[in-house]
Amino acid sequence: MLPAFITFEGIDGCGKSTQTRLLASVLRLRGVEVVTTREPGGTPLGQKLRHALLEAEGQVDPLAELLLYAADRAQHVRALVRPALAAGQIVLSDRYADATVAYQGAGRGFEPELVAQIVGLATGGLKPDLTLLFDLPVAAARERASSRTRNGRVHDRLDGEDPAFHTRVREAYLQIAREEPARVRVVDAGASVEETHAQVLTVVLPLLEKRGLGARG
Ligand code: TMP
Repeated sequence: MLPAFITFEGIDGCGKSTQTRLLASVLRLRGVEVVTTREPGGTPLGQKLRHALLEAEGQVDPLAELLLYAADRAQHVRALVRPALAAGQIVLSDRYADATVAYQGAGRGFEPELVAQIVGLATGGLKPDLTLLFDLPVAAARERASSRTRNGRVHDRLDGEDPAFHTRVREAYLQIAREEPARVRVVDAGASVEETHAQVLTVVLPLLEKRGLGARG
């Protein structure tokens, strides 16, 4: 089977991490070699950067934040994603470069040209074959994110951003989907976990079948 790089994006609380895990287990049952990873935090260095970014005491300067996400991505692409693709694997990444365009570009207000340059430097031009954008209204996502926090998940720094920030992030993601419809597919994340998973399979399986996934694995 040919390799593929699939990324999962959306605002906080959109349910993409659950969907990444569900897709990975379905593909593994079909005998596909799948690597699941995430940004930030897909490598040992990335885990340290994730901790610094999301659980830092006090303010993280927005430029420092932009560069730390880029550092995490540079390490991730070079140490994990490219080698896995070179070994013929299917890589599923919970967030990638679109997150920087949405969060640091639209959310924090950095110029699109600067964000594009930094993203290009970190990725070395590696683009996903497919991106699933899990879309739902900000209020519904905030409700999910806060129930996760109530259920014991550590409170992230970004969980504290106001709704306007998350609205800008959501709009930016939708704009990317409009600009790159062949790569970015919008999935209704407001549906149940099962319904959303069914939508994911409808989008992903045709791509993987083109890359050699047999109808029965
Ligand atoms: P998550 O693992 O729950 O998706 O959390 C990662 C957080 O980091 C989320 O709030 C989005 C944020 N983020 C950025 O702001 N820029 C980035 O480039 C990436 C990858 C994540």
